[in-house]
Amino acid sequence: MAWTDQIDRVLFTREQIAARVDELARQVRHDYCSLNPTLIGILTGSFVFMADLLRRLDFDLQVDFMAVSSYEDGTASSGKVRITKDLDRDVAGKHVLIVEDIIDTGQTLKQLTGVLADRGPASVRLCCLLDKPSRRVAEISADYTGFTIPDAFVVGYGLDYAQAYRHLPYIAVLKPQGD
Ligand code: PRP
Repeated sequence: MAWTDQIDRVLFTREQIAARVDELARQVRHDYCSLNPTLIGILTGSFVFMADLLRRLDFDLQVDFMAVSSYEDGTASSGKVRITKDLDRDVAGKHVLIVEDIIDTGQTLKQLTGVLADRGPASVRLCCLLDKPSRRVAEISADYTGFTIPDAFVVGYGLDYAQAYRHLPYIAVLKPQGD
């Protein structure tokens, strides 16, 4: 069986993603080019998007990463995330732009934006490649969104299923499990 056999269909090709990341980078550049922002990637899913976005930004900025484990008591309904890797630098007074791969229920990012807001940044905004609004539980929306997607399990371009598929250069929908 080929390692891609569980892929049902391609949702966004690498060309579509590149074109959209170009547009997002233009918006981010417009809003942040004089602010020396800190871009914070949330590990692991954001690493490909972060790398592509960053290399389109030709102004002064810093990069940092956080890792969280969702969810602390093992249930999505608790909405409690635990920070497993914190930032290396203080963000007090900084313009923070969170870079994330996907908002699903919104609980991870709702919590994280709260945690970061408590650290005294000049601002906190959110740049998310994918948004799945049909699954939202927590009230949160991104300031920059790449694509709004239906309620399907997506992988590739950083997103995984059991740590697999993160290296696909496109975003795909997995076949329903059990097929
Ligand atoms: C994904 C994604 C967000 C979170 C979104 O991370 O990167 O952090 O889930 O889900 P929510 O909106 O329902 O809270 P995941 O826990 O899959 O870890 P990963 O980034 O290591 O793949």
